[in-house]
Amino acid sequence: MRVRCDTTTAWPRLHRHFEQRGRGFDLRQAFTADRARFDAFSQEAPEIFADLSKNLIDREAEALLFELARECGVEAHRDAMFAGERINSTEGRAVKHWLLRAGGEAGEGDAVLVRQALESMLAYAGQVRADAAITDVVNIGIGGSDLGPQMAVAALETFRDPGKRFHFVSNVDGHELAGVLRGLKAGNTLFLVASKTFTTLETMTNARSARRWFEEQGGRDVARHFAALTTNVEAARDFGITSTFGFWDWVGGRYSLWSTIGLPIAIAIGAAQFQDLLRGANAMDAHFRSQPLESNLPVRLGLLDVWYRNFHGFTSRCIAPYHSALKRLPAYLQQLEMESNGKRVDAQGQPLPFATSPVLWGEPGTNGQHAYFQMLHQGTDTVPVEFIAVRQPAHALPVHHELLLANALAQAQALMQGKPDPGGHRHFPGNRPSTFFLLESLTPASLGALLALHEHRVFVSGSVWGIDSFDQWGVELGKVLAQDIAQRFTSLSLNGLDDSTAGLLRRIHPPI
Ligand code: F6P
Repeated sequence: MRVRCDTTTAWPRLHRHFEQRGRGFDLRQAFTADRARFDAFSQEAPEIFADLSKNLIDREAEALLFELARECGVEAHRDAMFAGERINSTEGRAVKHWLLRAGGEAGEGDAVLVRQALESMLAYAGQVRADAAITDVVNIGIGGSDLGPQMAVAALETFRDPGKRFHFVSNVDGHELAGVLRGLKAGNTLFLVASKTFTTLETMTNARSARRWFEEQGGRDVARHFAALTTNVEAARDFGITSTFGFWDWVGGRYSLWSTIGLPIAIAIGAAQFQDLLRGANAMDAHFRSQPLESNLPVRLGLLDVWYRNFHGFTSRCIAPYHSALKRLPAYLQQLEMESNGKRVDAQGQPLPFATSPVLWGEPGTNGQHAYFQMLHQGTDTVPVEFIAVRQPAHALPVHHELLLANALAQAQALMQGKPDPGGHRHFPGNRPSTFFLLESLTPASLGALLALHEHRVFVSGSVWGIDSFDQWGVELGKVLAQDIAQRFTSLSLNGLDDSTAGLLRRIHPPI
């Protein structure tokens, strides 16, 4: 039974605690007063160590947050997801991306389908890897059909087949596709058309243009040079693609890199490594399912997110991966969290009187230090920062990695400690919160665990807020209006348009 956070007994107690102890909380004093703070606020989880101790939270607040989660029924909601119940209530769908990484050995029903789909995708990936004539793989997809695979292929670059280049085309902006096509030869290219629905405007427009280009280049064998990754296999066949790899409506777009949408990843790193990616995620699933709330990393993070958003009132969170291969992680996490929890009504459609998803943003360190860290240290807003560091580098260049890690630690330290200076400009207030994630090395397994950790963390905060984290109705209106405006380029009509849109359209397309 789901109970919305603001109707619990823990909610007003958290408010009281925040007024008494949270608003004036000082990290420096907290460490002095509690020598066990680092241990109390660190958490081991599969493949990941997390230090939460530099956050603006005390043990009492965290205990109240666990009570909140229990009152909200977070555990029952989690169990309902893992039992395959239709917890995506506004779309009437189950939420089973976790099943894609559950191993499927002895399963039945959907687990059998998952295993078959995985086997056929991995076999195809193996064929492509062995085909030396294919030098370029172009993934055409957007949102979850782009961000996950693109992020993971970049993150796992050291595991990548050096004989192939990977390109990701998502935008309907033809500059992107044209730029990629410029460097390609039809006979050496494999296009993967990735779309859960196989109706998305950007993807279908790019896929049609790619096929036209392929034919204009003399390409004949569409069956060999195009494959589709979709739940809508029929539409892919109508498009003329015979190599199709299906998945199911119970895999949300932003949770789909574990499905056949992961084909570019499998081509890049091979079957064994792709299985390791799934294994790492599965280990985090097991942690999330079995650990008590108090030692459950996704739960602790999701509740911290609630604490920051609804009590401290922080509006954004900065993602700072201190590993250049994780450069697309912030964009991936943006979709994961903001499309999942950027909602203003609860699962029953009732307006919420409290805030939900923060804004996520970020860039790899140390680059961010020379751009926006100024604001993090001395700006007027407090922005919790999440450092993601990797202990073992995947290169042999001396000095670099120590400097990289020293910088990550120093930034977290500087944010917390600050530096008093009566002069004003050189004053660092400190007491600025951060979380520090440490991975032993960046491998398929640790990446899988990191991503599943974030999926579940988003689940926890969405669950406390009582929202449906698995729909995305907010993307629909713009799609409909874009279609309406696009047809005005030929109808030349401004009827019914607001003055601003009409004025802009007249300037963009003077015949109107
Ligand atoms: O418009 C948003 C969205 O539906 C995302 O949720 C999804 O990941 C993306 O579009 C792409 O959708 P599809 O995979 O169906 O092309």
